[in-house]
Amino acid sequence: MLVSGRGSNLEALIGAAQDPQCSFSIVLVIAESNAQGRCIAERAGIPTEVVAYDKRRTEKPEREMDRLLREQGVEIVCLAGFKRLLSPWFVGRWRRRVLNIHPSLLPKLRGLETHRRAIEEGHRQHGCSVHIVTEELDAGEVLGQEKLDVREDDSPEILARRVLALEHRLYPRVLEDYARSLVCAEAACREEAAQDAEA
Ligand code: GAR
Repeated sequence: MLVSGRGSNLEALIGAAQDPQCSFSIVLVIAESNAQGRCIAERAGIPTEVVAYDKRRTEKPEREMDRLLREQGVEIVCLAGFKRLLSPWFVGRWRRRVLNIHPSLLPKLRGLETHRRAIEEGHRQHGCSVHIVTEELDAGEVLGQEKLDVREDDSPEILARRVLALEHRLYPRVLEDYARSLVCAEAACREEAAQDAEA
C-alpha cells in the first residue's frame, strides 16, 4: 500500500484484511514522510517504510519502492490517497498490478477537487471508483464504483465526507474480487503448463 496522508482507506483495507475469509493481506505500507497513514499501519502491526520524494524529481524513490515491494513479495500495489504521479517506468514494472481509489465516477472528473467540480458542474450523481493505474492520470480500467445522489445542500466538504464513506466500502470489495481473480488466473496458468508438460 502506498499512502501520502490521512490513511482512512488504508484503515478500511486493514479492517477488511482481518476477516479470516479475506483473500488479501497487507504486507507492507510505504508512506511519504508525515503521512498519518503510517501510524495507522504501525498500530496494526504492519511493516512500514518511508520513502522521501525530492524536489529534483529523480527516479530514486520509485526504484526504492520497487525494491521494497519485491522484497516483500507484494503482488498488488494499492494506492490509498497517494498524491504522487507514478512514472511510466514504475507503471510498466507493475502492469495491471497497481490499483487506485479516486473520488469520482470515472471517466467523469479525473484529477483534483472532484467534489467542488461535481457541485459546480451540476452533476446529479457523484461517487468513487477503483481503477487500474496506467500511464495516463485516472484513465485505467474501472473495476468498481459506488454512487450517490448529489443533494442541493451539499458543500464540497459534506460531499467529500459522504463519498469517503462509500470509498471505505468499495475499496475492500474490489480488492477482494481482484485478488481472487489473480489467484484463479495463476492457478489456471499452472494447470495449463502442467498439461503441456505431460503432452
Ligand atoms: C480519498 O478521498 C481518495 O479517494 C483520494 O484521496 C483521499 C485519501 O483519503 N484520492 C485521490 O484523490 C486520488 N486521485 P485517505 O488518506 O483518508 O484514504
